[in-house]
Amino acid sequence: MKRESLAIAMLAGWLAAAGCADDTDVPPGATASPSGLTDPSGTFDHDELEAINKLSPEGEFLPADPTNAVADDPGAARLGQFLYFDTRLSGDGEQSCATCHRPDHGFADPRQLSEAMGTTARHAPTLLNAAFNRWYFWDGRTDSLWAQAIEPLEAPNEQGTTRLDIAHLVAGDAELRAAYEAVFGALPDLSDPDRFPASGRPVPGSPDHPHARAWASMSAEDQRTVDRILTNVTKAIAAYEMQLVSLDAPFDRYVEGLRDGDAEKLSALDEQQKEGLKLFVGRAGCTKCHAGPLMTNFEFHNLGFEPRGWLVPDDLGRWDAVPEVKADPFNAAGAFSDAPDGERARELRFLAQQPENEGQFKTPTLRNVALTPPYMHGGHFETLEEVVRFYAELDESPVLVGHRDETLVELDLSDEEVDALVAFFETLTGAPLPDALTRPPNGPRQPSGH
Ligand code: HEC
Ligand code: HEC
Repeated sequence: MKRESLAIAMLAGWLAAAGCADDTDVPPGATASPSGLTDPSGTFDHDELEAINKLSPEGEFLPADPTNAVADDPGAARLGQFLYFDTRLSGDGEQSCATCHRPDHGFADPRQLSEAMGTTARHAPTLLNAAFNRWYFWDGRTDSLWAQAIEPLEAPNEQGTTRLDIAHLVAGDAELRAAYEAVFGALPDLSDPDRFPASGRPVPGSPDHPHARAWASMSAEDQRTVDRILTNVTKAIAAYEMQLVSLDAPFDRYVEGLRDGDAEKLSALDEQQKEGLKLFVGRAGCTKCHAGPLMTNFEFHNLGFEPRGWLVPDDLGRWDAVPEVKADPFNAAGAFSDAPDGERARELRFLAQQPENEGQFKTPTLRNVALTPPYMHGGHFETLEEVVRFYAELDESPVLVGHRDETLVELDLSDEEVDALVAFFETLTGAPLPDALTRPPNGPRQPSGH
């Protein structure tokens, strides 16, 4: 099914769910909700069932990204998967996306901060279900997967390559060239070293950097040619990332059971996990922010952490990111977007810096969260238990940057309740990805017949 029709099917499911079911055939001791969920054990009340329904809506759904014309193209995804693991896309020939987003660690980094050509300033989050995000990075400074990927490729502390190196690599390698041209059409001639130096990129604030000088020596038109190759490469990588979807978790099986009464599905959660779920949608108030099928509102909040020695102390998060994404030449409204007048581009126009943005970071998805310690934008906590105790006690102070979100209130949780929430998180691990998506493919080109 096409992504659009899936989205419509999902919406239709939600609309139908909003209608009223009749409660007449609910067995004694059971509870039911208007959305048609019935809990034979009576653990959840009406409001809790409504909240649970929203975390696992009926029908399949996949994200769409109209700013990327090849988001659904299998040839682009194959090329992108190859490049994701290709260490030639790095200044020292040793780094790739997989250095920090490790397939064996839920596509996140087990380290608090990542090490590649240098050390990162924040923790590397999961790429599982990243396709659903509205904004990318912890502070949302880019607005699409393909625009996001440009930064790690060129950041001197990450992969440390340049867009000119990348363009020459693709043009000079027979396999990459064939795979690229099969998706994007003929590459331009880059063979004149006076017009297309070997290395170069814009280096904001450092006009004397050799990469900046090389870039500045080029005509605007040749710069655009290279930027086009760069964005095609990152659109291919994004097409691969669009496939890193892992939803179907024991929790979803349980909700199906609440929907159709199947006893085996209802056994997908044990008593402790059900208690955790009840706290999550109820007294602990987690769904104020971790709402919807991805268990995130896709918004930004300041949780108010104490400083950590390994982090920069004055990280303003969303505050700095708002002007950055608006000025980004690779944003949804820009010349390289395939939908410059689309919904994402329109939203950008209304985006404005707000005082409360200081110290805010993006609410992450909680799907697959058990796979990806440590947690938070700086790897603040090693375990999920530490995270839950943080929310329960809120005793971290002082808040250095901005103000702690007022929706957070101290929760009076017993040790058993903390354990129950942690046990609930284990039920959010989705079906594993097909093995073939977790390693480099044999070559960048889709085998013929596809
Ligand atoms: C050196 C480690 C490192 C490398 C290499 C790296 N990343 Fe990341 N990645 C990070 C860190 C750290 C963050 C979070 C940074 C921030 O939010 O400021 C991140 C964030 C992301 C995000 C945002 C996810 C979200 O939910 O907002 C995506 C997507 C991503 N990286 C994809 C990639 C791709 C694709 C590549 C290869 C082209 C790549 N990364 C290479 C460390 C790395
Ligand atoms: C006010 C909104 C809000 C509420 C309420 C909230 N969270 Fe969060 N949650 C966030 C944000 C924002 C982050 C990331 C913060 C950061 O890194 O600075 C986060 C991070 C997390 C993480 C770490 C995920 C990861 O991949 O690093 C977990 C686990 C989590 N929250 C669980 C919970 C639980 C359990 C509750 C209820 C007790 C809860 N949250 C309530 C906004 C919220």
